[in-house]
Amino acid sequence: MTTTIRNGTIVTADLTYQADVQIENGVITAIGPGLKGGRELDATGCYIMPGGIDPHTHLEMPFMGTYSADDFESGTRAALSGGTTMVVDFILPGQGQGLMDAAKAWHNKSGRANCDYSYHMAITWWGQKVWEDMEDSVKAGITSFKHFMAYKGALMVNDDEMFSSFRRVGDLGGVALVHAENGDLVAELTAKLLAEGNTGPEAHGYSRPPQVEGEATNRAIMIADMAGVPLYVVHTSCEEAHEAIRRARQAGKRVWGEPLIQHLTLDESEYFHPDWDHAARRVMSPPFRSKDHQASLWAGLQSGSLSCVATDHCAFTTEQKRFGLGNFSKIPNGTGGLEDRLPMLWTHGVETGRLTMNEFVAVTSTNIAKILNMYPKKGAVLVGADADLVVLDPKASKVITAAGQQSAIDYNVFEGKEVRGLPRYTLTRGQVAVTEGKVTTEEGHGRFVGREARPAVNRALSTWKELTAPRPVQRTGVPVTGV
Ligand code: URP
Ligand code: ZN
Ligand code: ZN
Ligand code: ZN
Repeated sequence: MTTTIRNGTIVTADLTYQADVQIENGVITAIGPGLKGGRELDATGCYIMPGGIDPHTHLEMPFMGTYSADDFESGTRAALSGGTTMVVDFILPGQGQGLMDAAKAWHNKSGRANCDYSYHMAITWWGQKVWEDMEDSVKAGITSFKHFMAYKGALMVNDDEMFSSFRRVGDLGGVALVHAENGDLVAELTAKLLAEGNTGPEAHGYSRPPQVEGEATNRAIMIADMAGVPLYVVHTSCEEAHEAIRRARQAGKRVWGEPLIQHLTLDESEYFHPDWDHAARRVMSPPFRSKDHQASLWAGLQSGSLSCVATDHCAFTTEQKRFGLGNFSKIPNGTGGLEDRLPMLWTHGVETGRLTMNEFVAVTSTNIAKILNMYPKKGAVLVGADADLVVLDPKASKVITAAGQQSAIDYNVFEGKEVRGLPRYTLTRGQVAVTEGKVTTEEGHGRFVGREARPAVNRALSTWKELTAPRPVQRTGVPVTGV
């Protein structure tokens, strides 16, 4: 089956040029002027870009006594509808559960995916079995390992466990990930707030100030440095965390930061809304911050100190959010965004002049493909790459509404926002899944993308570590003693 995308402008992380793109059997086979043949898609006035890759989703995830409402079917349908052609979801082993057992459970769920997907493995407990299973995980193509420094009593790991795990990840050639919030302090602040009668959703924000994130981010960076492992910090939401990442990068450390589209465009005033449901629907960790923190995140994307824009898509219905009526700490943490990430970033990033189109592609697709070692199969418009593409129409616009979304939940945190930069077409391995808002996804079309360990960064880190390892000094003379 041949498809040709004609009359468009190709925009990648480093180039903008006019050319047609030809696809056969799900792969790009030709790029150049005047291509014809097969099914022809007209991209006049549009940009042909690598499809978005969302490096951070939680589909059908067991969490806080319930399951996130979007599963691999509705979640990837939402993704494609918004121009995202791949998601990286988190496998969350239960306490005492083997990593590969948990991977099996995730593979069972992801069979329904409409687009390609990969996994990060979460390290939710520590022991010999986990240490052993990590090698099997890497062999199975799951080479990035997430550590929760928050959610005390549930997912949280301590520093000694994290240091052991980070060293293991480094030795296996993987990437360490952290959810960086000081879980001990969050627990203390939460208890104090509740005792003082601060039970509403606004207290969620009070319980997780920027300091708990800044402290944990810096701690994770230092531990990763000692362990000799590259570090990816998920959902960086504030200047304190960004500052730690910036400083680390300036000092030559291999550290990346990931702001979410929610933190870039929504702020803490959402929690002060008089409607409890409105505020609770926006409860996520870290919480939304002030406009100063938003400015810091945008600056990070502009300067390159922050690398990838994600969603942390973890959608709960209003009914689920109401588990926390009377006690904010029981509101399931998480918000949606898969369908809205690209148009929101286009509208608030590219249209405002804060990002170039090429930077847009870098932070929504190419950077993460490189960090996770799946470039140029993913994240590229190159001959031989998977035809995961979005043909983005910069003039097409819509107002975001829950009624018009693919996600299974009953609201949208971006409700009422007008966005431009919508897909005229979204292609997943060459298959057209979206045509001007019409969604024609195929359940089960998505495939697992396994990734190899030991990308260049790890090789460099381990070479440097070996060269600078502590060694006894070789002395020439015998010291004169006892004179
Ligand atoms: O509030 C959030 N972010 N929920 C999803 C789980 C996580 O911490 O990433
Ligand atoms: Zn998290
Ligand atoms: Zn998350
Ligand atoms: Zn298919």
